[in-house]
Amino acid sequence: MNDSTHHYGAVTRVLHWATALLILSQFLKFGDRINDGEHWIGQTLVPTHISLGLLVLALVVFRVVWAIRQRSQRPQHEGPTALLVKGGHGLLYLSMLLMPLTGILYMVGNGYGLGAFGVQLIEKSGAETGWMLALGSLHSPIAWLFLVLVTGHIAAALYHHFVVKDDTLRRMAG
Ligand code: HEM
Ligand code: HEM
Repeated sequence: MNDSTHHYGAVTRVLHWATALLILSQFLKFGDRINDGEHWIGQTLVPTHISLGLLVLALVVFRVVWAIRQRSQRPQHEGPTALLVKGGHGLLYLSMLLMPLTGILYMVGNGYGLGAFGVQLIEKSGAETGWMLALGSLHSPIAWLFLVLVTGHIAAALYHHFVVKDDTLRRMAG
């Protein structure tokens, strides 16, 4: 269950791959740009965006708490790239939190209310709230930055596995 200095435990691994899968599917929302959403990506995969985004928020809050508790007993990063790796992982965590939070502010700020999996959490008000809209408008720019970060992250994982041939991917994968 717990992490160790040479391997990530089951909880960390399940959280990592579940959130990774959900987030990668959330990026399909960019598909709304194709033909104004009149496209199979926009029509079949995108309507779940808010429900799955809120699920990501719940999982990530749990993931952050878990990561803090495991901090001293997880694989440690040393050497010249340590700062880059820690900074990169920190920015991934920040993006994972900011994406759903700005999404919520976008919806509530526009007065649309908020619902997930068919349950209404915040009623529709129809009234716009300026500060929420301002922060909510960051949802799209942060999504682009997040996409760049995730691409770099995946490239680094594959580089470790296929070029350096160390166990970085294996200690997260299985
Ligand atoms: C990890 C979570 C999330 C990710 C990765 C994500 C990603 C994205 C992406 C890539 C777009 C398309 C942006 C563009 O085309 O410029 C988008 C749009 C949108 N997202 Fe999210 N999102 C997440 C969570 C949420 C949540 C929780 C909500 C609502 C509570 C939400 C509401 C929206 C809305 C309303 C749009 C359309 C915005 C517009 O048309 O301008 N998102 N999201
Ligand atoms: C949206 C997608 C993803 C996000 C947000 C993400 C985020 C993270 C974060 C924050 C960590 C630090 C460890 C932790 O706290 O759990 C991590 C570790 C890791 N991730 Fe991802 N990840 C994503 C997708 C992927 C994918 C697709 C791969 C493989 C191709 C991958 C491979 C790894 C590996 C190998 C580690 C361990 C790195 C190390 O020990 O230095 N990740 N990931």
